[in-house]
Amino acid sequence: MDKFVIHGGRILRGTVRVGGSKNAALPMMAASLLLERGQRLLLRSVPDLADTRTMAELLTQLGVHVERDGHRLSLSVRDDRPVIAPYQIVRTMRASICVLGPLLARRGKAQVSLPGGCAIGSRPVDLHLRGLARLKARLTIDHGYIRAHATRLKGATTYLGGSFGSTVTGTGNLLMAATLAHGDTIIEHAAQEPEIQELARLLNAMGARVEGIGGHRLVIHGVDRLYGAEWTVMPDRIEAGTFMAAAAITGGDVTVENVRAEHMIAVLETLRQMGARVEESTFTVRVRGRPGRRLEPVDITTLPYPGFPTDLQAPFMAALTQARDISVITERIYPDRFSHAAELGRMGARITKQESTAIIVGVRRLSGAPVMASDLRGGAGLVLAGLAAKGCTEVRRVYHIQRGYEHLERRLSALGASIRRVADTATPALAAQTA
Ligand code: EPZ
Repeated sequence: MDKFVIHGGRILRGTVRVGGSKNAALPMMAASLLLERGQRLLLRSVPDLADTRTMAELLTQLGVHVERDGHRLSLSVRDDRPVIAPYQIVRTMRASICVLGPLLARRGKAQVSLPGGCAIGSRPVDLHLRGLARLKARLTIDHGYIRAHATRLKGATTYLGGSFGSTVTGTGNLLMAATLAHGDTIIEHAAQEPEIQELARLLNAMGARVEGIGGHRLVIHGVDRLYGAEWTVMPDRIEAGTFMAAAAITGGDVTVENVRAEHMIAVLETLRQMGARVEESTFTVRVRGRPGRRLEPVDITTLPYPGFPTDLQAPFMAALTQARDISVITERIYPDRFSHAAELGRMGARITKQESTAIIVGVRRLSGAPVMASDLRGGAGLVLAGLAAKGCTEVRRVYHIQRGYEHLERRLSALGASIRRVADTATPALAAQTA
């Protein structure tokens, strides 16, 4: 296991290029399961991350031949008989659930391990199952697996709203399943996230007939087969937002390239309220912090798109520990997604949690400390805190961070940060205890 060693206090300056979106790439990769044998999906700008590698491994087990050439991924179906997504893979990556809809639609059967709980809270899949059941899939759950059958799915009207809004991967699953269903499917209360919009556009490029892209109501006219296609994965708005928060927390001047600013309206507005100067141009956003002046406090509520994304809550919480007054963050997607708050407390942050709200009293300077990442975005938040803290911060369990950020340490170093990745010398016994 590796850790990041960060010496804080450097001001970030320069240009950083954002890669392809993890959360767009994962369901797009799963869409290859909709193809006939011999057909190929070519995806460009696929980030090289632990999660995209895990999806590639799962697809390989499901008969897809996966070839990677840098950020290009070629996926062609060699064998369309396997239907099992095993626990060993699903437990390491919940997005594995994205194979359920396409397997069922194309192969008539799927056996997918139920994802369990995870560090950011309870994450059920009831809406995925409810939607597929409306398409006349027969579903049972036993021995920890979802077992699904359907000779051919049948189009129907489905409703994907839940207590915390719609479901992103649930919409993706149902969308993929409905492309090959008999007749028309309507998804009411569909997730509107840009990653889902892009998935729908890719499916249309493969021969699907999806209408209403970007709205809450998707209409899918089922077709008999889909075809190979080529597609470039959209830029990762969460990675972009993380670099922008890094610029703000260090009072730096960072130009983030390969950004779709229209996907980030809530984030850019929040940065402006925090006192950062934000300049947008085509595919580029420049964020300038205020060297020598503290950030302004803000209130943030995480919401489904186009609201402020839950995946940027932790990086922005890190930045707000440095504000000159009290900020409030309310988490409306994952009420328990605050494990980073206690670790930030070890660095001198003053954060009080009340149910799904965190109250952050800004402090003049954090102090470096050993801390532990317990999930991807929380880990990124701790790295940002380390960039601003006085002295040395060690962030352990960087494998969480590698799930979603490609070479984060190299790219922050190129902007002037002092951050190194080194082997964690904690004894194996201690590492096992904390795993
Ligand atoms: C996606 O997860 C993202 N993952 C998450 O990013 C992101 O945090 C989340 O959407 C919200 O934006 C991928 O795209 C691979 P949901 P997903 O189903 O689809 C509840 C990251 O850091 N819910 O939209 O699993 C659920 O508990 C990751 O990159 C149900 O109640 O999220 C949550 O409160 C972490 N029943 C809310 O809905 C269901 O059947 C939204 O979850 C499904 C979800």
